[in-house]
Amino acid sequence: MKINFPYVDLNTKNGVTREIILLQKIFIYAIRAYEKSFFLGVLNFMDALECIMTRRSIREYADGCISENEIEKILSAGSAAPSAANQQPWHFVVIDDREQLKSIADENPHGRMLKNAAFAIAVAWNSDEKKPYPSLITDDLSAAAENILLAAHALGFGAVWLAIYHDEVKQESIRRILNLPENVFVHSIISFGIPNEKRSPRTYLKPEMIHRNGW
Ligand SMILES: Cc1cc2nc3c(=O)[nH]c(=O)nc-3n(C[C@H](O)[C@H](O)[C@H](O)COP(=O)(O)O)c2cc1C
Repeated sequence: MKINFPYVDLNTKNGVTREIILLQKIFIYAIRAYEKSFFLGVLNFMDALECIMTRRSIREYADGCISENEIEKILSAGSAAPSAANQQPWHFVVIDDREQLKSIADENPHGRMLKNAAFAIAVAWNSDEKKPYPSLITDDLSAAAENILLAAHALGFGAVWLAIYHDEVKQESIRRILNLPENVFVHSIISFGIPNEKRSPRTYLKPEMIHRNGW
């Protein structure tokens, strides 16, 4: 939107008129600043796409810790996920105890990276909390897990998702190590660290995956 200064015919020698001109200028600059922030908003949307397209599972970590502030940002991203009827079934167990991380790694052949992780988050739900759509709880928790992975990547950390809920043995092992009550179930564990491997972005989209108005 282009706005022209409409005061060219005004008598600028008059003190009052000068004040009006000043107010008009402030108003116009405020509108231009608003327009700029609107377009910056669009640019941020592009950043989100870049984050999605460049995320990879990172399993090799260098030494270094992740601040509480950054952990909170990652948890906030998890809790911002969509959920059925907004039922928000998630609980997040932050695991930064080295012995616990090592025990989970030892008992989970697919989770060995946890030995060197800065921390991990168990995405969990409490079956005592009644939710309107219990059959969609795992969908909700998967959305939270994906948000968590993307937030970690956006902040420059490496992360990988370990599925737990489908496997009773893994579920019991985690419950024992984390001392979780019987009514708490772990959906997934996400391992985080300072990346010590570079993995190239890729896309799996193939023409045969795309269907329109039917199969
Ligand atoms: C439901 C689910 C379970 C996964 N479980 C494991 C796991 O136990 N251990 C592991 O190293 N990676 C696990 N992954 C990560 C996948 O191996 C990884 O996402 C996949 O190979 C694609 O690679 P990318 O994430 O780098 O694109 C899991 C991912 C998902 C979505």
